[in-house]
Amino acid sequence: MKYIDSAIVKLTDVSKRYTVENLALHRVSLEVQKGEFIFLTGPSGSGKSTLLKLLFCAERPTEGTIRVDGMDISTLTPSQIPMLRRRVGVIFQDFKLLGRHTVFDNVALSLEVLGLKTSQVEKRVREIVANVGLIGKLEQKAIELSGGEQQRVAIARAVVNRPPIILADEPTGNLDRDRTNEVMELMEELNARGTTIIFATHDEKLFENTHRRVVRLENGRLVK
Ligand SMILES: Nc1ncnc2c1ncn2[C@@H]1O[C@H](COP(=O)(O)OP(=O)(O)OP(=O)(O)O)[C@@H](O)[C@H]1O
Ligand SMILES: [Mg+2]
Repeated sequence: MKYIDSAIVKLTDVSKRYTVENLALHRVSLEVQKGEFIFLTGPSGSGKSTLLKLLFCAERPTEGTIRVDGMDISTLTPSQIPMLRRRVGVIFQDFKLLGRHTVFDNVALSLEVLGLKTSQVEKRVREIVANVGLIGKLEQKAIELSGGEQQRVAIARAVVNRPPIILADEPTGNLDRDRTNEVMELMEELNARGTTIIFATHDEKLFENTHRRVVRLENGRLVK
């Protein structure tokens, strides 16, 4: 009988060693199912960002295997990485926008590299920017926006090409409570449309009342 793997992300015995002394992840095994929304938590330095970085090949594992959306990414060659990045949208704590570029340009860039027609790019960008409530700021430079607005642009950029997986690394870390709630609502909406979300945060308030799975790292190990 054929075994059908329903996990969209699967780490098996993954370790990451940055230096001889520092073992950032130690034999981590984790499965995330299609459509799941999980919180990844743990104290500072426990390996949350490292785990996410492995999932979009910003770092490579020292040991173990990683499957993402059907691809064995532990052995991806550099030329195959763009293919993975089209399937995985990433949102960072510090937004990582092109400050001097407009909201439109920041969001359009990830579609332009896919070779979409200008008219399609325009339509998709407008639609997604409207979704995050910033259509009135389309031509404003990213640097002229508030933190909460910048994070919404970063979310729009991450989701504009409709990736099946979103990785969020402390996306609310620089935001106040109201802006945090807005970001959480956007994440819930994305998940409701079927996007798998892995959300790293040490802010326990974000998941204290959740029915979602919470996965915890301590010193690079998954703890139950
Ligand atoms: N590029 C790197 N080179 C060497 N060591 C690193 C590197 N990146 C992370 N580390 C180390 O790996 C460990 C895990 O770091 P990581 O950034 O994954 O933790 P984190 O859980 O995301 O922490 P935080 O909550 O502060 O963001 C830490 O001990 C850190 O110092
Ligand atoms: Mg981190």
